[in-house]
Amino acid sequence: MSVFRFPEGFLWGAATASYQIEGSPLADGAGASIWHRFSHTPGTTFNGDTGDVACDHYRRWREDVALMREMGLKAYRFSISWARILPEGKGRVNPAGLDFYDRLVDALVDAGIQPMVTLYHWDLPGALQDLGGWANREIVNWFGDYAQIVAQRLGDRVRLWATLNEPWVFTFLGYIQGYHAPGMRDLWAGLRAVHHCLLAHGEAVARMRSILPAEAQVGIVLNLSPQHPATGSEEDRAAAERVHTVNNALFVEPLLKGRYPALAEQMVGFAWPPVHSGDMERIAQPIDFMGINYYSRGIVKRGEHGYLLAEGVENKQAQYTDMGWEIYPEGLYEILQWVHSESPRLSLYVTENGAAFRDQVQDGRVADAQRVEYLRQHFLSAHKAIQNGVPLKGYFVWSLMDNFEWAYGYSKRFGIVYVDYATQQRIWKDSARWYQQVIAANGMERE
Ligand code: FCB
Repeated sequence: MSVFRFPEGFLWGAATASYQIEGSPLADGAGASIWHRFSHTPGTTFNGDTGDVACDHYRRWREDVALMREMGLKAYRFSISWARILPEGKGRVNPAGLDFYDRLVDALVDAGIQPMVTLYHWDLPGALQDLGGWANREIVNWFGDYAQIVAQRLGDRVRLWATLNEPWVFTFLGYIQGYHAPGMRDLWAGLRAVHHCLLAHGEAVARMRSILPAEAQVGIVLNLSPQHPATGSEEDRAAAERVHTVNNALFVEPLLKGRYPALAEQMVGFAWPPVHSGDMERIAQPIDFMGINYYSRGIVKRGEHGYLLAEGVENKQAQYTDMGWEIYPEGLYEILQWVHSESPRLSLYVTENGAAFRDQVQDGRVADAQRVEYLRQHFLSAHKAIQNGVPLKGYFVWSLMDNFEWAYGYSKRFGIVYVDYATQQRIWKDSARWYQQVIAANGMERE
């Protein structure tokens, strides 16, 4: 039996996002976000589910912080709802919105849990969408102002800051494929959204640096996943390269190298957004860390349609989660190595990793052995990366508790804590107890 220890001070945490857990989306003067509007539009989410109640965290946050403390979490990654702070997205500040997060941060600090704040986890104020949302270049300043307001209020206690969560998802699924809010299918607008959100990230980094104390760490969170060709053929290899370029390199290269991948521009032709002089420097503003959300890999073959000319392929040998995502722990190692090779001194965090399974409560217990195994295998992959010199500083499990899984509503359970939505009771799954032990030991054994 071997023991896998993590570096001293390794930041074990769990992650959530505002619209997925809070509920009470319009309480205390908050504006409606695009996810509020979207989920209240028929046909957009599974079962018509909305975030109206979610985990009722907006009212039960004290209880939830107590739960995190009992679990021994060293850190908690959560996001701020922009429309609670600025109901119209810009201009007038709503003090009640800031107060909510202020109290949450105080409670976390009291509990010895380090907060990691994500400024944007997809719930854009609806009023800004009416002006074009991320497709409007003015959003660079709107986001900068918002970042500044939040940093001014929480910057004395929050050390870890992420600007955006998964820009690929909210631009491609939101503006190009239509599965997420705002539900558009417009490549032209989506690519502008990509460029503007990266610019907005750079603007926020610069503004926050002028306010935050020197020890603050500012970064961004990307969803990254290796893309493997289905066969050794040149066609499939090129298809995998195209998907990698759009999903990974389109974000990593501008942020770390100050340039867009040439292949991406070739692929989309006339839809490519205008890049002004100075833009790439603003985007490539030095960051203190990159957060990586990892769930699965892609297996790709040549396709006939769209700018990607690629199709996903199923792996008949593999196991899949309830999301239909292949379980492929080695991919976490691959992606950590890749980002590390692109920027060898940059600190990395796994800001999300976890799995949905069909959990059931039996005699007050949720025996989620598959999730324990999923997490164990991914922790081992992270450990291997650390052994190989990757400066991985922490790991946030997705998610602290079951929640509103976007277009899938409440049908997918990612939590290590089960939420009984009828009663709002939180029930520890076996994975939560197992994770508690991993954190306490700062490592684990492999039987
Ligand atoms: C990520 C999101 C997160 C959650 C997980 C399952 O893409 O950042 O909010 O939905 O997937």
